[in-house]
Formats: sequence, C-alpha cells, structure tokens
Amino acid sequence: MKISIVGAGYVGLATGVGFASMGHSVICVDVDAERVRKLNRGEPPIYEPMLEEHLRKALEENRFEATTELGRAIRQSEVIFICVGTPSKSDGSMDPVFIEQASRDIGQAMKDRGGYPVVTVKSTVVPGTTEGVVIPLLERNSGKRAGAGFGVCVNPEFLREGQALSDFFNPDRVIIGELDGRSGDTLHQLYRDFKCPILRTDLKTAEMIKYASNAFLAAKISFINEIGNICKRLGIDVYEVARGMGLDRRISPHFLNAGIGFGGSCFPKDVRALMARARELGYEPRLLEAVMALNEDQPLRLLELLRKHLPDLRGRTIGVLGLAFKPGTDDVREAPSIRIVGELLREGAAVKAYDPKAMDNFRRIFPQLQYCGRAEEVLDSDAVLILTEWEEFRRLDYSGKVVIDGRRIEEARKARVYEGVCW
Ligand code: UGA
Repeated sequence: MKISIVGAGYVGLATGVGFASMGHSVICVDVDAERVRKLNRGEPPIYEPMLEEHLRKALEENRFEATTELGRAIRQSEVIFICVGTPSKSDGSMDPVFIEQASRDIGQAMKDRGGYPVVTVKSTVVPGTTEGVVIPLLERNSGKRAGAGFGVCVNPEFLREGQALSDFFNPDRVIIGELDGRSGDTLHQLYRDFKCPILRTDLKTAEMIKYASNAFLAAKISFINEIGNICKRLGIDVYEVARGMGLDRRISPHFLNAGIGFGGSCFPKDVRALMARARELGYEPRLLEAVMALNEDQPLRLLELLRKHLPDLRGRTIGVLGLAFKPGTDDVREAPSIRIVGELLREGAAVKAYDPKAMDNFRRIFPQLQYCGRAEEVLDSDAVLILTEWEEFRRLDYSGKVVIDGRRIEEARKARVYEGVCW
C-alpha cells in the first residue's frame, strides 16, 4: 500500500520505517528540511534500537522517502497517518495546534485528488478531537465530505521508547477507530499480517482506549509505589510482594516495579490531559489526581533517605547513576532525575553524574554538573543515587559505598550502606 506519514518524530518514524520494512511504500513528511535530508541519507534524528538498520534497508529498497512536500505525498497515498506532536498547554490540557495545522494542510492537498484516501490519526489526541477538530478542518480545506470524498480512522500507537520497532512488529493489539466500514477496511488491510487481535471501534472510543491504557499503567506504577512506601516502613520487600501479586493472572507481573516513579513524554502528559478534559466536562478525576500527586512526591523519598545518612548536603559530593527516564533511551523529559538533581543543587551539594546515553540532553538543563566519562568515576563520592536501571550499573563494584537505590539494582546491595527507595 502507499502510505504517507505526516510528522517524522518518534511515532511517525517508527511507524513509517516499520511499514516500509513490511513491504509498503512510505513517504514521510516533515517541515524540518534538515531532518528530511538526514533521513534520506539514512540518519535517524533520534536514538532508537534497530531504527537506523531498518531505515537504511528501506531506503536501499526504495520503499522509504522523506520529503517536505506534503502535497506530493498526500496526492499519491491510500492511507495518510497524522503523527504530529500533541504538546500540553500550561494547564495540562492538550494543545491541538500541530493537529490543526496538519489537518488544514492535508485537507488542502486532498482538494484535487480522487479516490478514498483514509486520513488516520495516530497522534495521541483527547477523545472527541478527531470528530471535533480534525474532520471539520479536513472538510473545510478539501471541499469534500468525510465518508464521501475521504475516509477517517483513529489508530493509536502503543510503542515504548527503546523498543519501538519490536513493539511495532509484535503488538498486543491493534485498535482501529473508524468513521465508516470502508475506512476501517482499508486500515484493517494494512494490518492484516499482524498476529494479534484487531479491535474496531468508533473514533472517540479508540482515542479513549489510548488514554485509558496509559492512565492505567501510570496508576499501576503509583499503586505499587504506594504499597512500596508502606512496605519500607514495615521492613517488607515490595519486590517479593509484587512477585506474589503478579502470579495472579488478573493482576499480571508487568509494570509492578516500584521505584522513583514514571517520567517520559507520555504518561505524565497524557494523564494530565485526560484530567483536564474530565474537568472541562465537570468531572473531578480523583484517582488520576492521586496517581500524579504520588508520582510527583516519589523522587523526593530518595532524598529523605539520603538525608538520613548525610543530614547536611552542603559541600558534599553526590554521585548520580542514570539520568534518562528509563534505560534504553537518551530521553530525559519529565525524568525523576530532574527533580532530584534540582533539589541536590538547591541544598548545596556538588553533583557528579553519568548516563550512557542521556548526558547531552541533561547538560542542556543542568550545565553545572560534573559529567563523568565512566560509571566508576561516579562511585567516588560521599553517596551514590541510582536513578535509572541501566544494565551496566549491575556490574559495578559498590563495596564500601553509601548507595540509595531508586531502581532496584541487586548488585548495589553489596554497598557498605544500602537503602532502596521503597524496599
Ligand atoms: C509508554 C507506554 O508504555 C507505551 O505503551 C505508549 O505507547 C507510550 O507510553 C506512549 O504513549 O507513547 P514509554 O513512555 O516509552 O511508553 O515508557 P514505559 O516503558 O512505559 O515507562 C514509562 C515510565 O514508567 C518510565 O519512567 C519507567 O521507569 C516507569 N516504570 C515503568 C516504572 O517506574 N515501573 C514499572 O514497573 C514500569
């Protein structure tokens, strides 16, 4: 099938390169000319395992192209994915500015083409956005009617950073929200080789499935962190508790790793956007409020434990292992490390830090830290905080050190003083 992807960010690229690898013909559109040039040379603008290999292969086989010319891409595609970002406004609600722009541009480009192209929203948008914002703009700018001159679907992504391509090829499910059967059939065709359930719904149900899934996973993490905070006071290992709980198939063992909380570009933003939408509708989302409040305090628990061993941080050197919001990525957006390092500096500590991938991104926020070339160098400090569970941290020699662990690195238990954040 001929596919265009509007927005060559993280989701757009993983999706575009994924479909190209499956034999489809993909044109990726982006406004950033430098990004487009790089992509056409086989250089992905973000770090993601396997992305470069798949991109290069797709380019060699002429199944992938990046361009700034939206009109040309739209005119020749059967499916058009909208993959632009949905940032937050200051009140936490979703800012539809890029969605609106993409809808206008795609509408314009569909003006003088025939057929039944299916515009598919893959960006994470609050329930009601496709019907309330995307369709009216497509109709106004194309002069065609949705369901007559073009089709519309919502097809949320469930990719995890650091595993985006393997998640793309092996999804647990595919959700197709459809305006009409014809739109849904076209998208279904695209996913027919995937070995997983395909659920077809209406447009806003598909939008809600995405938010509900992220909100549930976020809640699961805050839940186990709360149990962990109680366990810590009782001298119980929350990881053993989680193992016992996870054996119940209704609970499942996944996403029960207690620690310093969730970060990244999705969970915090999506939960806040859902809360903002609920409030607009006159509903107070009390559970989601608690999920976020717990998550905001969780990094500070690590500092409480640190103060137990070093009551005054002034003039002390604190080593920080891990800055990324999770291993396998260079992303530090909403990472617990930002809160923790900010607090350490405020209290007068000097901070030495190491992360195998995220130091460049972190340096833009905190240029004043001492960034180390190797993890071992960080160990030479008054106390060490573990903030991301990178594999290489399992191989360090922690003997003789004071370690406060936010991510459960077993090896660190050999430290002279060891405290887990909630175990
Ligand atoms: C998340 C979802 O897992 C994806 O399904 C979804 O597509 C994506 O958001 C999105 O909406 O785009 P991602 O943000 O890449 O993916 O990261 P996760 O692997 O879900 O981890 C999120 C955060 O939760 C990390 O900070 C991680 O350290 C934390 N976490 C995760 C825990 O603290 N404990 C756990 O047991 C699991």
